[in-house]
Amino acid sequence: MRAFIRHRFGGPEVLEQVDVEVPTPTADQVLVRVHATSVNPYDWHHLRGEPILARLVPGGLGLFRPRLTSAGCDLAGRVEAVGSAVTRFAPGDDVYALLEQGGFAEYACVSQDMLSPMPSNLSHEQAATVPMAAMTALLALRDDGRLQSGQEVIITGATGGVGSFAVQIAVAMGARVTAVCGSRNQALARKLGAARVLDYATTDCTRSGRHDLALDLAGRTTTRAWRRGLNPEGTLVIVGGPPGRWCQPMTHVIASVAAAPLGPERVVGTDIVGCSQKAELLTALTSLIEAGAVIPVIDRTYAFDELPDAIRYQEQGHARGKVAVKIHGEGEGSL
Ligand SMILES: NC(=O)c1ccc[n+]([C@@H]2O[C@H](COP(=O)([O-])OP(=O)(O)OC[C@H]3O[C@@H](n4cnc5c(N)ncnc54)[C@H](OP(=O)(O)O)[C@@H]3O)[C@@H](O)[C@H]2O)c1
Repeated sequence: MRAFIRHRFGGPEVLEQVDVEVPTPTADQVLVRVHATSVNPYDWHHLRGEPILARLVPGGLGLFRPRLTSAGCDLAGRVEAVGSAVTRFAPGDDVYALLEQGGFAEYACVSQDMLSPMPSNLSHEQAATVPMAAMTALLALRDDGRLQSGQEVIITGATGGVGSFAVQIAVAMGARVTAVCGSRNQALARKLGAARVLDYATTDCTRSGRHDLALDLAGRTTTRAWRRGLNPEGTLVIVGGPPGRWCQPMTHVIASVAAAPLGPERVVGTDIVGCSQKAELLTALTSLIEAGAVIPVIDRTYAFDELPDAIRYQEQGHARGKVAVKIHGEGEGSL
């Protein structure tokens, strides 16, 4: 099978396309024929080994070279074979998952606990855009933000990968959403369900009324500034931060949460990687998607060979929704 792997830190050029054996599932694993994947900031952070500060975290990026050679955290595909202890899946099932790495390959072995049946109304290409971005959006709004119906929510980065899901999920949960995005994305934000749209280039989003919840995906605003835009009992959820080689976005998240005791608002950082409820998040998203409340927005779709270009495009930070990569066509034969 074809797979993209890496042996050193660097830009998308360090990804090598190689031919390797199709992996064999262990007893509780499922062999998935990967039809599609998608690109997230997680992928280029891991590829570059940046921020360099994060290399010091045990079990993280790796200190001098990548801890894992495989790459790619999102996957949607079809079950090809199952291990002897697998009870929840059978060959032919359409599935999707958030992996630590391994989605940038034609086949992947995934523990059955990490997999979910794919929403019946999505293509593999659409489904592959869901795991990392939409699970983060749901975790941040529902669990970290404790969002209640009828609340006022402001979301920065509202038309990016996480944001395009977050706006739809918040609306589905009964919130009134103010979306903050660039001028060319105003119409998309309204289509996603935002009641109010602010252009970050011309408007200070912390001086545009008070909100019960601020979901900060762009990470360009301090906790102190956010206090102007929050109700006294409000919540600030930090998801993203400014890009940086050495310390950001880690230092932005740490500084934002450290400032919490200085005011009455709750300030929480979201961490999808460390979250122990991943399977439940994906199941809840499947319900929202099948109910028609959430629809993936795909900016561009690349072919498997073009995967490094897909990462280059995503890394520019202005994709409208998600960047997808097709690996196997629906009609192509399997093993
Ligand atoms: N904590 C976690 O567990 C977790 C999980 C997933 C992602 N993240 C982080 O969340 C952030 C968003 O991820 P994503 O996948 O949505 O990324 P993305 O698709 O690249 O979206 C980035 C968004 O930021 C906006 N933006 C760019 N420059 C801006 C500026 N100067 N001021 C305000 N907004 C600006 C863009 O808006 P325009 O296109 O309109 O310019 C775009 O909507 C990233 O920092 C990512 O690392 C964190």
